[in-house]
Amino acid sequence: MNDRIRYAPLLERIVSAEEASHHIQDGMVVGMSGFTRAGDAKEVLHELAKRAQSEPLKITLLTGASLGHDTDKVLAEAGVMARRLPFQVDTSLRRKINAGEIMFIDQHLGETVEQLRSGSLPPIDVAVLEVAAITEQGHLVPTTSVGNSVIFALQAKKIIVEINCKVPTAIEGYHDIYQTTDRPERFPMQIVHPQDRIGVTAIPIDPAKVVAIVETGMEDSPAKIEAPDEEIRQISRHLTDFLLEEVKRGNLGYSLLPLQAGIGAVANAVLVGLIDSPFHDLTMYSEVLQDSAFELIEAGKLLFASSCSITVSEKWYHRFMQNLDRYRDHIVLRPQEISNAGEIIRRMGVIGINTALEADIYGNVNSTHVHGTHMMNGIGGSGDFSRNAQLAIFVTKSLAKNGDISSIVPMVPHVDSNEHDVDLIVTEQGYADLRGLAPRERSPLIIERCAHPSYREALHEYVREANQRGGQTPHVLEKALAWHIAARETGSMRTAFKTS
Ligand code: COA
Repeated sequence: MNDRIRYAPLLERIVSAEEASHHIQDGMVVGMSGFTRAGDAKEVLHELAKRAQSEPLKITLLTGASLGHDTDKVLAEAGVMARRLPFQVDTSLRRKINAGEIMFIDQHLGETVEQLRSGSLPPIDVAVLEVAAITEQGHLVPTTSVGNSVIFALQAKKIIVEINCKVPTAIEGYHDIYQTTDRPERFPMQIVHPQDRIGVTAIPIDPAKVVAIVETGMEDSPAKIEAPDEEIRQISRHLTDFLLEEVKRGNLGYSLLPLQAGIGAVANAVLVGLIDSPFHDLTMYSEVLQDSAFELIEAGKLLFASSCSITVSEKWYHRFMQNLDRYRDHIVLRPQEISNAGEIIRRMGVIGINTALEADIYGNVNSTHVHGTHMMNGIGGSGDFSRNAQLAIFVTKSLAKNGDISSIVPMVPHVDSNEHDVDLIVTEQGYADLRGLAPRERSPLIIERCAHPSYREALHEYVREANQRGGQTPHVLEKALAWHIAARETGSMRTAFKTS
């Protein structure tokens, strides 16, 4: 432990996870490390769930993003969570959110820290942070994500540290920890290229705030990346074609611009597709690195990746941990207020690639609410990127649920990224480049290029009727959501236009 806890006075704070959990009391606001299953604290909150069996215990839980190790599930099922933000992906928690039992604040991932700093959210009582080491100064070296740990550590009255002995101490140096100054005296963040560093390698804290240290040895939960099916490969090919067209037009070079890709199979496959493309010397400015980033590095295509977390399969987790020195010059991990900062994303002209649940005929995107009401995961960082990217790209398969759902609809019943931000929609059918087009020009393009052929005529029919009503963005309001109502009532959108 002495090589991990290099600030000797803290050696005496080592306790069991159960004992550490008693620093968390009913009604508290807890800030925990963890971003897309990476670098999450893995033990103390599970002890809280056990305590909840015999004592009243409800907390507000803030993290960077989603957690591994079923922590959200365990806490939701134990009734510990009163309020959760800013993101989740767990089925049990989702059920309770949609039943109205847990209040979920679905938030841009770059926004939480701003709201904590400005007092718009209640301050953090206790921070529970996974670290790889504590430096001679008592500062905290994160593991595979940084997330919101910096603001949590700064605000918390008490800090519980989970020191993960499975993560080699050689991870020290991967992080670029920087805190912005308070408004209105905020200075520009001097990051011009993904590889620029502006901070320090550990989270500076007052070590006196560390009330407990728990030793753990659990790996991050592996990312569940399924092999891409033919439709996903097709999406990847269309996107590559679009990027090549941009190079031909002189809008981009073969190194493109820094890439961001959201979590999930589609975004991962799209990046893997770049391995066999003529693009080279690529960079990423993203919030999460999946297997694809490592495959691109290995293929010699990706020079450098800036991220907030590393969320990979078991295979790549082990390769990364065993080869920390090899990847050191290729990767930096930052707090999410930096990885998702609009200022930097816009300055660099990031190409943002995110996944939509559905898009409408004018380019509005719903990434979060199934049929407009039921939460899927949350907006995550997709809005941080789509608002500020040079190219805001959304990908989705044209059909869901065996064809009962069209992902191209007359009107999305919930908007996460709006028509003013979205530049390109890609499905396995093709891509629609919306730049410079008015809504009346976008609708036929999106229908012809992106909608599944089995829904195209119904969409054209809707547009014909809507255009007769007039307007900048024509709609038949009484029919605009009929497809979603039909899906909710009958399980299929097709019943809306077959019977009408
Ligand atoms: N209507 C209803 N359900 C739909 C749908 C639609 N239009 N499109 C897809 N779905 C369902 C799928 O059937 C699937 O259901 P299942 O879990 O029961 O199998 C589920 O949504 C997930 O869809 P899938 O096609 O597997 O895509 P995915 O795993 O890539 O997830 C999002 C897609 C949109 C849910 C996911 O990307 C997300 O949460 N995005 C928002 C956050 C984000 O973009 N973050 C970016 C930075 S990390």
